[in-house]
Amino acid sequence: KPLVFSGVQPTGNLHLGNYLGAIRKFVALQADNDCIYCVVDLHSITAQLVHEDLKGQIRSIAAAFIASGIDPEKHIVFNQSAVPQHAELAWIFNCVARIGWMNRMTQFKDKAGKDRENASLGLLAYPSLMAADILVYRGTHVPVGDDQKQHLELARDIAMKFNLDFRDNIRATGTGVDILVGDEPVHAYFPMVEPMIEGPAPRVMSLRDGTKKMSKSDPSDLSRINLMDDAETISKKIRKAKTDPEALPSEAEGLKGRPEAENLVGIYAALSDRSKADVLSEFGGQQFSTFKPALVDLAVTVLSPITAEMRRLMDDTAHIDAILRNGGERARARAEKTMAEVSDIIGFLR
Ligand code: TYM
Repeated sequence: KPLVFSGVQPTGNLHLGNYLGAIRKFVALQADNDCIYCVVDLHSITAQLVHEDLKGQIRSIAAAFIASGIDPEKHIVFNQSAVPQHAELAWIFNCVARIGWMNRMTQFKDKAGKDRENASLGLLAYPSLMAADILVYRGTHVPVGDDQKQHLELARDIAMKFNLDFRDNIRATGTGVDILVGDEPVHAYFPMVEPMIEGPAPRVMSLRDGTKKMSKSDPSDLSRINLMDDAETISKKIRKAKTDPEALPSEAEGLKGRPEAENLVGIYAALSDRSKADVLSEFGGQQFSTFKPALVDLAVTVLSPITAEMRRLMDDTAHIDAILRNGGERARARAEKTMAEVSDIIGFLR
């Protein structure tokens, strides 16, 4: 049975990349799936240990989930540290995964920078905790932006190695199922997670440079649209967004080699649940001076109600805290079951 899991770190302001690459997909997946959406506070202390108002940051991500349309009663919304089994399974995975696998992660290399010896051990083990987040619920589908792809491939490697290393114990405890990995039949405890990266905006780029990812850490606030920006700020940022002098092409092929144009068309498509080709069939041949005001209108129409609802929710911290507490309890009940089975498979005495 499919289970959707994804997480967002409570660091800095959410931006349009987080919304289109992740949260908007979370909302759409609710109709047909069992979904668990997590504010990954344990991950947020890997790169920077001390945070000002971490509690407030956690609440603001939960508020963004709910304001965007996630239903915390039908599905589960909680913060990671409320369910200790994430860290517990991550420890097991630290013993399954190899140091070489972690050293190859591009995000680790980027975040650790030149002084790798001085990065936290948690930053190196980050993908192991991420695999545990998903697999402690035996999650199968993970909606994320393109930047998380490598981490999800590692989660598959960890699941596969656990399944193979403990093959006999999985059989003996009767906890596994037969799955196909490629054409190989494997008796598995953990499923192979499927990344869900598709869509017109899997990687939203900076508004100042179409070759750089839109990111929380870009020093220029003009490079991103924040979920808390007001209409005037959104309008200013889109008007100032870098473009080339050509008119828009009438087919998606024509966006090749035009990263800024491709980015803005992708954003328009994702915000209106259309394909880039479809958007170009409407705007092909038109100048940015026509397209940009249409994009401003669309972005403000979609984002303003979310921003307003986020503000309203954040004023009622007791309500947000109650939602997270309730979600945490329901998540914990599921995670406890997995950890009891995992302990049994490994051979711990309980
Ligand atoms: P985080 O908090 O950096 O980002 C949250 C989500 O936003 C997506 N995203 C983007 N998508 C498109 N374009 C962009 N410019 C852009 N920037 C960010 C990210 O891909 C992500 O989906 N490691 C994860 C959090 C995590 C997680 C997990 C995700 C922890 N455990 C388990 C899935 C499953 C992260 O740091 O995301």
